[in-house]
Amino acid sequence: MYGNDFSEPPEQPGARSLLDQVADAERDLELAAQQDRPTGTEDDYFMAVIAADQKIEPRDWMPEKYRKNLIRQIAQHAHSEIIGMQPEGNWISRAPTLKRKAILLAKVQDEAGHGLYLYAAAETLGVDRAELSDMLIDGRQKYSSIFNYPTLTWADVGAIGWLVDGAAIVNQVPLCRASYGPYARAMIRVCKEESFHQRQGYEILHVLSHGTPEQKAMAQDAVDRWWYPSLAMFGPPEGESPNTAQSMAWKVKRFTNDELRQRFVDMCVGQAEILDLTLPDPGLVWNEAEGRHDYTQPDYDELFRVIKGNGPCNRERITHRKAAHEGGQWVRDAAEAYAKKKAKVSA
Ligand SMILES: [Fe+2]
Ligand SMILES: [Fe+2]
Repeated sequence: MYGNDFSEPPEQPGARSLLDQVADAERDLELAAQQDRPTGTEDDYFMAVIAADQKIEPRDWMPEKYRKNLIRQIAQHAHSEIIGMQPEGNWISRAPTLKRKAILLAKVQDEAGHGLYLYAAAETLGVDRAELSDMLIDGRQKYSSIFNYPTLTWADVGAIGWLVDGAAIVNQVPLCRASYGPYARAMIRVCKEESFHQRQGYEILHVLSHGTPEQKAMAQDAVDRWWYPSLAMFGPPEGESPNTAQSMAWKVKRFTNDELRQRFVDMCVGQAEILDLTLPDPGLVWNEAEGRHDYTQPDYDELFRVIKGNGPCNRERITHRKAAHEGGQWVRDAAEAYAKKKAKVSA
């Protein structure tokens, strides 16, 4: 077992690995595109496309609530990708070797790319990227609460890769089947890259936990701090998640927050054993009757505090993003001037 290369869990024969599930979704997406599209009036056409597991495309009619809901979700996702560059970017200049630095640089650049695919997907819904950027900076739109925690040691880069990117994949693999075409296609690419992120984090922790006692202690400390915030990434439990039911009816979301959180816990236990690290939950035990692990829920009051802007690094993250946005104004101006000049020449 290495990273997210799972052997089949004995309790779920036939279970597919996460990357296999991405490949399945990609194949089904291509097959569905070859089928005849349903016919009908706007409203029943929309539901018929969803029922047939085909994709709603930008040209299609869609209910205003579906469009708005998707913009909110995709924008929040895009913001998380680019804010997520900060905690790890913090370690690029302090990576322990040239090789580690090159890998981390590539990973952080991938996150910028994920942001880009997702902003582009959001724009197909008729919203302007500049507007989304403003909404992030002035707090009207959110990003994942996990990125408001600090990266204190090099081992945190490992813990983020293993746990945070790991949780992201568990969350995002089902989104490869989301009913909105541009989102589903972006997710297929993103998931393939996230799998590399998860492995690089796992490998950092594996090296540290099999190194000196100090290195092992540093790895354990990082896992102790990142475990519960990673569980909280799946969002509030059932009943407190306002958008779940509608999102599931529209086949944007396929599983509840709790189902995905459970899947993540079950996935991490075997990997933690190989890493020789302990997940910081004395209540974590195998439940034979249910075929899954029992575990302690994260502190959801803390989650809501962080979402409301009172996590350890919220202000720092937005201040940094704002400065980067303002610092990039000349690039946007130059690109616009160049586009105008080119249009004039070709006219
Ligand atoms: Fe990402
Ligand atoms: Fe990632």
